[in-house]
Amino acid sequence: MSLTDDRLDTAARLVDVSDRPAATPQPWDPIKIPRARIESEIDRLAAAPRPANGRRASRIVHPAATAPGLGLAPGVSVTIEVLKPGEETAPLRENAHRVEIGIRGSGRITVQGDEIALAHLDVANIPSMQGFRFRNDGDDVWARLSYSNAPLLEKLGVHYAEDLPESWEPKPRTSDAPATYTRGTAPDIAIGDEGARLRGYEFLVDIEVVESRALHWPWAEVGQHLSREPGDGRRTIMALYNPATQRRQGATHSFFVTASFMPPGAPPRRRGRGHRHSSVAINYHFAGRGESVVDGRTIEWEAGDLLLSAPGWLEHAHYQGPEGLGVYTVQDHPLHIGMESLVWQEQLDGPVLALGSEEGQTGFVGPREAGT
Ligand SMILES: [Fe+2]
Repeated sequence: MSLTDDRLDTAARLVDVSDRPAATPQPWDPIKIPRARIESEIDRLAAAPRPANGRRASRIVHPAATAPGLGLAPGVSVTIEVLKPGEETAPLRENAHRVEIGIRGSGRITVQGDEIALAHLDVANIPSMQGFRFRNDGDDVWARLSYSNAPLLEKLGVHYAEDLPESWEPKPRTSDAPATYTRGTAPDIAIGDEGARLRGYEFLVDIEVVESRALHWPWAEVGQHLSREPGDGRRTIMALYNPATQRRQGATHSFFVTASFMPPGAPPRRRGRGHRHSSVAINYHFAGRGESVVDGRTIEWEAGDLLLSAPGWLEHAHYQGPEGLGVYTVQDHPLHIGMESLVWQEQLDGPVLALGSEEGQTGFVGPREAGT
């Protein structure tokens, strides 16, 4: 919609919000996409004619989602992406970023100057605005779950993407030369004595660069650091950390990814209340079986299922069965840390904490039994 000049001054509405009640979160319902549904969609995509850009893809859309910004959770999409043997995608770059989890076959991801051989259950991130393409150099159909913050950018009206020419070749990284910044000479004036400052415009637009690279977490290596035998003292949940996200603790600037593993025979988790947080959690189960209790509803899951297991601010707890569990959890936790909006309540009768801007939840120093 565009406004004629004579309406520019009057088109905005003025909504009286005086005395409006305090806001309350409006979570979507939890939802499960069973393994069989994911597998049949992989097969359907593989059987279809090759699209012109090579991207066989199906975005999973929650029934509560509204365009623009269709996703599995508000602001988060999970797309099933498929390549047949020998195929590759047209190169692309975009201001959304991604987490890739290999769920069938294997293939290669080329991102700027990095090449990642993604095996089954490996995880990789693709940073924003770096050219990338996927190539299936294996013998089987390659399928990934691709998590993206594109729905949030679509909601904001600023999802920017460029098809790169077929001749695109990744550039080798040349980051040895120290960066020079004009921001270094920006005016810097104290205002008062509490920390407020005035800075020049170059301070806004010549921002210190933190190198953001595509990183690879092979399951063959990650899995060695997780519990393999009940009582072996190894951690049952670990974060796949990308140092570029600094204190936002992510695999990308929007998403953390954790790998959880509880071996068969691990003691069952004690039943009780769950916890809740403003970040949403999406679980991809790759081993074991169990159930989650989300807002009083029980959802059974098994290996191969994808769940919106913790819509923002809904109480949830996860319980593995005798077969144990293996699960990747993706949460938009770093996004919320950046916005100072990550509120967290570990005990439903305990405090609501703003993680990252006040003292955090303490006490997790060993193998964790609680759900994520
Ligand atoms: Fe959680």
